[in-house]
Amino acid sequence: MSRTIEVKAKSGSYEIRVGRDLLKEVPAYMKELQLGSRVFVIGDTHTRMFVEQLEHFLINGGFETRTSTITAGEGSKNLNTVRQLYSECADAGLDRKSVIVAVGGGVVGDVAGFVAATYLRGLKFIQVPTTVVSQVDASIGGKTGVDLKEGKNLVGAFHQPSLVVCDLDLMESLSQREFNSGLAEVIKYGLIADEKLFAELEKRLAHKPVTLDSETIVRCAQIKAEVVATDERETLGYRAILNYGHTIGHAIEAVAGYGNVLHGEAISIGMVAAAMLSHDRLQFPGRDVKRIHDLFAGVGLPVKLPRSLQTPVAIKKLVKTMLLDKKTQDGKFQFVLLEKIGKARIGQEISADEVEKILERLV
Ligand SMILES: NC(=O)c1ccc[n+]([C@@H]2O[C@H](COP(=O)([O-])OP(=O)(O)OC[C@H]3O[C@@H](n4cnc5c(N)ncnc54)[C@H](O)[C@@H]3O)[C@@H](O)[C@H]2O)c1
Repeated sequence: MSRTIEVKAKSGSYEIRVGRDLLKEVPAYMKELQLGSRVFVIGDTHTRMFVEQLEHFLINGGFETRTSTITAGEGSKNLNTVRQLYSECADAGLDRKSVIVAVGGGVVGDVAGFVAATYLRGLKFIQVPTTVVSQVDASIGGKTGVDLKEGKNLVGAFHQPSLVVCDLDLMESLSQREFNSGLAEVIKYGLIADEKLFAELEKRLAHKPVTLDSETIVRCAQIKAEVVATDERETLGYRAILNYGHTIGHAIEAVAGYGNVLHGEAISIGMVAAAMLSHDRLQFPGRDVKRIHDLFAGVGLPVKLPRSLQTPVAIKKLVKTMLLDKKTQDGKFQFVLLEKIGKARIGQEISADEVEKILERLV
């Protein structure tokens, strides 16, 4: 049994299927969509087993299949990997009707999506996300791309997938830390768009071991799909709502060193800080700041700066890093803040001093 969500992007609509044991259904879905019969499946060294399973299902379904696995991790999200994959596309004889399938987390999705967006000026593309982050966020919305040594996600293209298949079973092999990190994005959806989801998460995440169900993934995917349908290319400013907690989070990731603090861990701290700023600026209730703090802390996510970033010097460095970010205007930050749980307000101007004071309270 799967649930279907439609993403009504201006450049074309597509479906997200959510459920369990869906990997084996991919060939049938591809036939429904009348996609070509030559398929290039791309995964990474941690999702190789799913790549091999999918290859088996595709061959049984009459598809001609080629596979490749890139080295796991953000370090592979670069143009060298893309160049290598282009060569493999050529070697496999891919043509305009061929299909690229990404089986992995956001790194695989972003890289494989970029290859699909650019090889032969664009091939059809399917996402089979295997992390929490990729199931609820990265696989939906058509942002593809790679990092340069000068910065993250500096090269890319918008290229919507033809289909997204979220199979919850594929997340069972995730490490506890990766799983928890992904929960930060799930909680974010409750905070920015759905009070009921937030309240449900308070109950669900209190039970250990923490699990996610299809209904939660569906709700998150629906919210992302709505944002994408409203502001596909981030030209209206609305898509920025997804950046709640990210201004401070990105700086923490950069200053702590990518990989030392995971993305979800960094935005967990960023979301607590943004809730405190919301309290100061928008009369967001103090008791709800506490609920947010307690929910993140309850699933083992950090709610204070990492020890190495707790010194006055490190806090100044965080603010300086934020000022260098392309999203600042005239030395002021554009924050997403909360009016209440489930309702975010974009474009809130916050000064560097205010941010510094909030960070000082997170030690
Ligand atoms: N395109 C978008 O809209 C968008 C949105 C959010 C994030 N992103 C990008 O996504 C990336 C982060 O995504 P992520 O958190 O999924 O990172 P990731 O792809 O690096 O995956 C995290 C780790 O989990 C491993 N892994 C993946 N699936 C697994 C599984 N089922 N079992 C065991 N291990 C598994 C990976 O190999 C990796 O080591 C970043 O590069 C970010 O920029 C893109």
